[in-house]
This record gives sequence, C-alpha cells and structure tokens, in this order.
Amino acid sequence: MKYNAPLFRILMILAFLLPGTVHSQTAASKMNQFVSGLMAKMTVQEKIGQLNLVVGGEATTGSVVSTGVEEKIKQGKVGGIFSVSSPQRIRSIQELAVQQSRLKIPIIFGMDVIHGYRTIFPIPLGLAASWDMQRIEQSARIAAQEATADGLNWTFSPMVDISRDPRWGRISEGSGEDPFLGSAIAAAMVKGYQGKDLSADNTLLACVKHFALYGAAEAGRDYHSVDMSRIKMFNDYLPPYKAAIDAGVGTVMSSFNDVDGIPASANKWLLTDLLRKQWGFKGMVVSDYTSVNEMIDHGLGDLKQVSALAVKAGLDMDMVGEGFLTTLEASLKEGKITMADIDRACRMVLEAKYKLGLFEDPFRYCNEQRAASEIFSATHRKVARETAARSFVLLKNQGVLPLAKKGSIALVGPLADAKENMVGTWSVSADVSKATSLLTGLKEVAGSGVNVRYAKGANVTEDSALEARTSVFGKPWQRDPRHPDTLIAEAVRLALQSDIVVAAMGELAEFTGEASSRTDLNLPNSQKKLLDALMATGKPVVMVLFSGRPLTIVEEDKKLPAILNVWFGGSEAGYAISDVLFGDVNPSGKLPVTFPRNVGQIPIYYSYKNTGRPLVGDEFQKFRSNYLDVSNTPLYPFGYGLSYTKFDYSPVSLSKASLKGAEKLIARVTVTNSGKFAGEEVVQLYIRDIIASNTRPLKELKGFKKILLQPGESKEVSFEITTDLLKFYDHNLRYNWEPGEFTVFIGTNSRDNQSANFTWSR
Ligand code: BGC
Repeated sequence: MKYNAPLFRILMILAFLLPGTVHSQTAASKMNQFVSGLMAKMTVQEKIGQLNLVVGGEATTGSVVSTGVEEKIKQGKVGGIFSVSSPQRIRSIQELAVQQSRLKIPIIFGMDVIHGYRTIFPIPLGLAASWDMQRIEQSARIAAQEATADGLNWTFSPMVDISRDPRWGRISEGSGEDPFLGSAIAAAMVKGYQGKDLSADNTLLACVKHFALYGAAEAGRDYHSVDMSRIKMFNDYLPPYKAAIDAGVGTVMSSFNDVDGIPASANKWLLTDLLRKQWGFKGMVVSDYTSVNEMIDHGLGDLKQVSALAVKAGLDMDMVGEGFLTTLEASLKEGKITMADIDRACRMVLEAKYKLGLFEDPFRYCNEQRAASEIFSATHRKVARETAARSFVLLKNQGVLPLAKKGSIALVGPLADAKENMVGTWSVSADVSKATSLLTGLKEVAGSGVNVRYAKGANVTEDSALEARTSVFGKPWQRDPRHPDTLIAEAVRLALQSDIVVAAMGELAEFTGEASSRTDLNLPNSQKKLLDALMATGKPVVMVLFSGRPLTIVEEDKKLPAILNVWFGGSEAGYAISDVLFGDVNPSGKLPVTFPRNVGQIPIYYSYKNTGRPLVGDEFQKFRSNYLDVSNTPLYPFGYGLSYTKFDYSPVSLSKASLKGAEKLIARVTVTNSGKFAGEEVVQLYIRDIIASNTRPLKELKGFKKILLQPGESKEVSFEITTDLLKFYDHNLRYNWEPGEFTVFIGTNSRDNQSANFTWSR
C-alpha cells in the first residue's frame, strides 16, 4: 500500500482520541492474522477436533462420558477438557497436545466454578441476597484466583437464568426472579472472573449460561419445555444474558430447553440473529452437556442431523456428546453444512485460546507454587465468611435475636452438625472436609462463656428414597438409624436444660441444583414434628433455615419467634451464621426471590401485572383475580429482609414532578437508623408506568443502594432517573419509553415503600 499522508494523519488523530479502540483493533487484527494463519494449516478433521469438548473426570451430569481422551488429544480431536484440575495433571495433558499433536494447539481447560473454587461462597441465590455488587465481584475474583492457580482457565459461570419457580432445583444457581438485579450481578460476576486482562495468569474466561430461558422450564421440572412470548423474554428473561455480553463475557453456553419450539442448541434465531447480530457477541458458544445429542429426543432427527443443525445455528463447541466430531465431516461432504460453518466455529474456539494467551504459553496456568499458596487461603476464607454473613436473610425476629454470649444453647436439627451440607450444590471443587459446621462455628464464636450442646433431633426426611436420590455427586449423608421418637426425645431433653433452642433445619444441599426439582416445598414432616416438640418445651426456638430455593414455611412463620434463612453459605458458613446469631454481624440480606405461601401460587413474583379485574385489598372477592383458598400475597415479598436495627424512611421527594425529554429526575429519601445496632440497609427503587400502550408491571426494580448507618445516623439516598429507566419492549419489540404518568417507590422491600408520582413528556 502506498503511503497516504491525509489518511495517516486521520489515523493518528483517531489513535490519540480513541486509544482503547485503536489498540483493541490492532489486537483484534493481530489475533485474526494469527488464527487465519493457523487455520490455513489445519485439515478439516483438525478443525472439527477443535470443536470437541470432553469431560476429564470429576463431574458428569449426563449419561455419556468421554473415552479414549489421550489418543484423541494426540490426533488433534480435542479442543477442550473440563473437570480436570491441578497444575500437574493439566500440565501433563497439555504436554500431550502441544508436543504430540500435529499442530500443537493447546487445550482449554474448563470447570464448573460456580460459587467459589476451593473457598466456597454462598450459592448464587444467596450471593444475590447480599445485593452487594462489590462483594459478588470479589467472590468471582477469588474464585478465578484459586481456579487459575489450580491450572484452569475457563469457568461455566455465571448462571444468570431468571427463575420464578422455586420448584426448579436450579433456582439456587441463579440470582432469582428479577432482571434488573440479575443483570447487575451478571456484569459483576463477569468482571470478577475475567478481570481487565484475560491473558493474565489469574483471570478466568467466563461463560454465561444457560442461553436461554432455562429458568422458565414448565412446571419447574428440569430440562422441560419453555414456551414464552417474545415480549416477556425481552423484558424479563433476556436482560441478564445481555448484561453479561455487554460486560464482555468471552463465551456463552446454550441451554437444554427449547425456545419457541426449537432447542436452544440448534436455534439460529437465538444463537446467531439475536446473540451475534443484534447483541454483537463475538465469542464462542458451547453447548450444554450433550445438549446436541439430546435434540434426537427432542425429535429433531438423528445425530448427524442435529449436529448439522447446531453448527449451522451458530453453536461452536460440542460438550461431551461428540456429535460434531463424528458426523460433521460427512455432513460437509453431503453439502448439509458448509466449510464456512466449520471455519466459524473453529475460529471462535481458537480465538478463545488466543485471548487466554495459551498460544504464547500453554502452561501459563500451571504454577505449582501458586496452587500451594493461593487456594483456600486465610484471606479468602475471611472474605467468604464476611460475604456469607451478608447473604443471610432475617425473615422473622420477635426480639429473640441476637443471642447473648452467655447461658446455654441447645443446638438441634439434622443440619446442625453437617459440614458436608454447608457448601451447597454445584461446588464440585470444594473440599467438604474443610467446611465448618454450624456446631463448630457456634461453639467457637460463642466462646467459653456459653454452654453449646447438640442433639440431632431428626433426620432431614423420613423419606429414604428421596434422600437417596439426592446423592448424585456422592456427598456423604449419614442417616441416623435411631427411631424418630428417640431422636426427638433426646432433643427435647436438651432443650429443657437450655435457655434457648437453635434449630438447624431445611433442605439438604442436593435437594437443590440440577435435576433436583421438587413439588412439595414444605419442611419435611420429620423436621416439622421435631419443631413442634421443641416449641412445646416453652423455650424460645430460633430456626436457622438452610435452603436453595424459597420454601413454603407458613406454619413455621406463624409459630416461631425467629427465622434466619441462610441458604447454603459455603465453606465458612458455620462461622458466618454464628456471627449473625450473636450479632457480631447485623443481617442485611434481602430476598432476591419471592417466598410463596404454597406451591399453588407459583409462579409468584412481585412485578406482576394488574389484570382487568385486580383484587383491591387483601380480602377475597368474587369475580376478581384471586384464589378461593389462599391470599394473593406472598409469605415474604421480593426484596424483604429484616435487621437487628430499625430503619425509618422519610417520604420520597422529587426534584421535579413533571419532566420533559432528556431531563433527569432525582428521587430522594432520608433513611434513619432509629435502633441500637449499626446496620446495612438495601434501599430499593421501583417504578410503575401507570398508562402505556402495553400492559405493564405494577412495579419494577430500577435501582438499589446498600448503605451502612450507625445508630441514630441518617443518610440521604438519591437515585437519578432518566428515560432509559422507563424503557421497555412493546408488543412490536420496540425498546422505548412512552410519555405519561409514573409512580416511583422507594423503600425497604418491594411491598413496604413510599411513593410519589411524576409525569414525563417528549
Ligand atoms: C449443566 C451445566 C454445566 C455442565 C457441565 C450441565 O449438566 O447444565 O450448567 O456447566 O453440565 O458440568
């Protein structure tokens, strides 16, 4: 090319004005050049080999497992491996690829690092309950630090599926029901994992999943069909995936379910039109575990057919099923797919490896020293403990909590001395032997002035078949062989000798998570019986509720003076729960999902629409939208959570009551801590679009701030509202705001808040 002075000058000016852009353009073109050069040397078989992701060991969630992996690596038939860890093991596998395969292309190593690696943080639903984006980002940062120290470079997280159905076991893995909160968390997780530089040795390539709508499986049954209007998708279910893309997530996982009649893994509208063309995603799309093969059962054809459909739709990497590996070449010869389809997919995989710096140094993540010092460190455990304590939600407290550090405590319940249960679902890399039980934590935090004694009181459930079904990952669970009456009698004796009872109850970790859907969300009968017997002693009973989903605890809410919902808080949960019980940490978690009164109310969520026959007030009314047998209201609303202190809210004040065009509205409240404890409060902002061209929710979360207030302290909290916050997708899928009248609500949860009205014109 000839030297072109004016063009050169323009480029220089651009480089000055937009240094990031020009730099990343050069980085992108360098990558392009490198990948094109490599692909020019690759045979069709080698390109297809890159699309093959095999499982190496610890976790399998489907019926197929990978075989003959070593030989395949040497033949260039493996692009990635997951569920293998440790620098030594990864180094030896990587050596096979970069020393014994023809083109020496390094392998990418993935793992389900979902809520921590070895230092386990609360389950994602619990993390969401902290409403603390800094802590959530930090949890992902620590997970990345530990996972990369153990040789990994790719995580199948964040899981951002909105779910409004607590029957679905995987609701525990996401951020709950709300797209605004879910989007903020999606972005925070991606930033935490990927950091600023993906090629650094302590950052992890993230994978947003499960694209898309997996959390809306019919009847809450896992892997079930999803049928949803586009308007609901775009307004309520898609935003968190989009937020992850906007935050720069490197990879996307397609989901098991169908979307509009086509399984996600072969859904061209989803994987190409929406994801790549509309949203501008430039990374790699991986299938979920054998989700390509599963399209045979979805009824889309044989393995060859479904694999061809998948690659044509925009899927790049095939997890475990090897449909790509075994059929794409034939489909190419038969003209069912094109070379361009394979090239695109191969390029995406190679680019991911390039961005991780694997071509520069395939052993970048294999540093034994880091593995020895950076995993499960005291600092990480301290952060996990603090984060867990801030994820717990105080559901009820009639003056019983916090506990005094004196006297005697009867700690009872099937989950009181169950350290293996603390880490929760999807913690494949956890060392459960290092988790802390509540019994250990309580004794240590209480100190020598408190007499803490323990009795089991009951098994989690008397349904041994249910219990057996929940041990897929082999988490040990020891059923107590004694007769239920003997267990209860022992606990009652202990209660009678103590000042107060702490009852550790709820779900087993594996009652939740993948393939753990349930239709009965009450406490199991064995635990209910124990609670009744404890209540009958007349001693105050505090329930510490372990849960991976909203449970229907109407009776317990009526009977008990205090309930602390602790999710599954991770490796340090035993300490964190004790910190909160004794008031060393004031609880500040808020529910990221509505707690129903019974399963019949599901789906129940705060941002519902009015209907043409809304119920006014709480009493049943004939020919109004309500139930004969249960109120419309939830047991605990979205955003709900108590504190040991009391927060008073002033009325909402608005900078203006009527606005125009690009103006900004400032909505303010003053929050006062009128209690005796310092405490954190999540101040929540909701907006209602009163009149619009489409039916609109009664309230939508549009902002939140977590603030710390000392006793007696007041703080003004302000939110800036622009028309961006008023936008929604209408029935033509136009994303816009409509002039008119709105209500803004600010308060402590989605139900209890102050409001003010404003109008906005064009
Ligand atoms: C799950 C994914 C997970 C994958 C790999 C699947 O069964 O749906 O969330 O990342 O297995 O373990």
